[in-house]
Amino acid sequence: MRQERVVDLSNFNNTLTVSVIGAGYVGLTLAAILSNAGIKTYAVDVDKNKIGVIKKGKSYFFEPGLDEFIKKGIKSEKLIPTTNYKTAIQNSDTAFICVGTPSNFDGSVNLDFVFKSVKSILENVKSDLIVVQKSTVPVGTGERIKKMIDEYDNKEINIDLISSPEFLREGSAVFDTIFPDRIIVGGNNKKSVKKVIALYEKIDNFAKNIKHNNFMEYAFLYSNKKRSKNLAPFFERVIETDLESAELIKVTANSFLALKISFANSVSRLCAQNKAKTADVMDGIGSDHRIGKSFLTPGLGYGGGCFPKDVAGMINYANSYNFSFNILDEAVKINETQVYFAISKIKKLLGENLRNKKAALLGLSYKPGTSDVRKSQSSRLLRKILDRGMIVSVYDPQAINEAKKKISHKNLTYIDNIKDVFRKSDIIILATEWNEFVDFDYSKITKDMNSLNFFDGRGVINEDKIKELGFNFIGF
Ligand SMILES: NC(=O)c1ccc[n+]([C@@H]2O[C@H](COP(=O)([O-])OP(=O)(O)OC[C@H]3O[C@@H](n4cnc5c(N)ncnc54)[C@H](O)[C@@H]3O)[C@@H](O)[C@H]2O)c1
Repeated sequence: MRQERVVDLSNFNNTLTVSVIGAGYVGLTLAAILSNAGIKTYAVDVDKNKIGVIKKGKSYFFEPGLDEFIKKGIKSEKLIPTTNYKTAIQNSDTAFICVGTPSNFDGSVNLDFVFKSVKSILENVKSDLIVVQKSTVPVGTGERIKKMIDEYDNKEINIDLISSPEFLREGSAVFDTIFPDRIIVGGNNKKSVKKVIALYEKIDNFAKNIKHNNFMEYAFLYSNKKRSKNLAPFFERVIETDLESAELIKVTANSFLALKISFANSVSRLCAQNKAKTADVMDGIGSDHRIGKSFLTPGLGYGGGCFPKDVAGMINYANSYNFSFNILDEAVKINETQVYFAISKIKKLLGENLRNKKAALLGLSYKPGTSDVRKSQSSRLLRKILDRGMIVSVYDPQAINEAKKKISHKNLTYIDNIKDVFRKSDIIILATEWNEFVDFDYSKITKDMNSLNFFDGRGVINEDKIKELGFNFIGF
């Protein structure tokens, strides 16, 4: 239950050194921001190559603004990238676990990385430590970790476990880490809970002094900047709870957002049967404050390293108790089939036979602001249209290198410059809503195309304006 509290942080202000285990999207961002907030932070990863890149003052993946924070962290010597658990853990009083939790084939969550990192922590710990579990895990994982701690525990050392799930969004990871809209801290030991809250408060103090210069504008490119001004005071955003509630909050949040997306996509299928415009319908219902507008834009559906696996994990967890979470099964089905609905729309523009039709595909990452193509619906659509014999030129501002590792095809050409992607195309397919695609002046490329067709897979293009240029247009 949410409680009114005033926390005395005075005891915790000076001595903190932190280890962040797993230097990926979540861990590296957290480590970089903590170090900029003045906290000595070890960024620990088992991957030497990743640590090698971070040591040079940059990230090995694209995330707006992150490089600048890493560079400053390294320069101030507050950020210490390492593969050495021993040095990191023996110098830390808090260790955040931020390792990956991918899906197993049956949809259950693979916890191997989490348990391996706990084992490595326990093998190296020599003094009191708070372990903050931040990876997204099924309910009950904390209890399993506690059991490991009890079994390993040197009785003279206090090791306490806190669950504090992460809600950052790739593409605005820096913004979300600095300005989180809620901070969940689950655990039984009040002192440890307060210590972790104190750490987060250090980030909040840092946030209060941030200068909104050009660099921050860039870091916040894909964020709702207004949110930073409208945020409630720090302690009103902190929710203290028990371990299991904290674990469940995270997967429930992602499952609910997936439901919203699939709901909007179902409505778009209904709208295809009449003249209603889905965007207007969603705008109309989203204006009701009880519903809200976000995550109701119809489109190709959700993807990425989190939603698909977290929803699968939730369904699997429910099934393990013989409870069928049918509403989520349905959300997954809608998401899986949305790509075929998109193809039916493309056929409305190009005719039933797509073979040898040439597409200019805009976007490969699962959303704008990231180079991540994991479970990307845009990349899935690419595969499906290649299967149907289309010839595709594709451009993405950041994700081409990642996509090249996964998709190659004789009919597929990766293009480095947006201007060159449209040549001799029969259709533009906008698959990821990068600002660059929304702001692009399409009047400049109409001459380059074979025929003027535009499919907006993300509901971001102004239909009237694009039609004025002579395009046949279809969206969701
Ligand atoms: N990416 C997101 O947008 C996001 C948002 C919220 C929560 N999460 C959750 O946070 C967790 C981490 O996600 P991510 O996207 O940062 O993953 P990631 O794959 O980007 O990073 C995980 C890192 O952990 C490292 N690692 C694996 N085993 C290790 C070990 N034993 N010791 C040290 N390092 C190890 C890997 O080398 C990798 O660099 C997942 O549970 C994910 O569901 C992710």
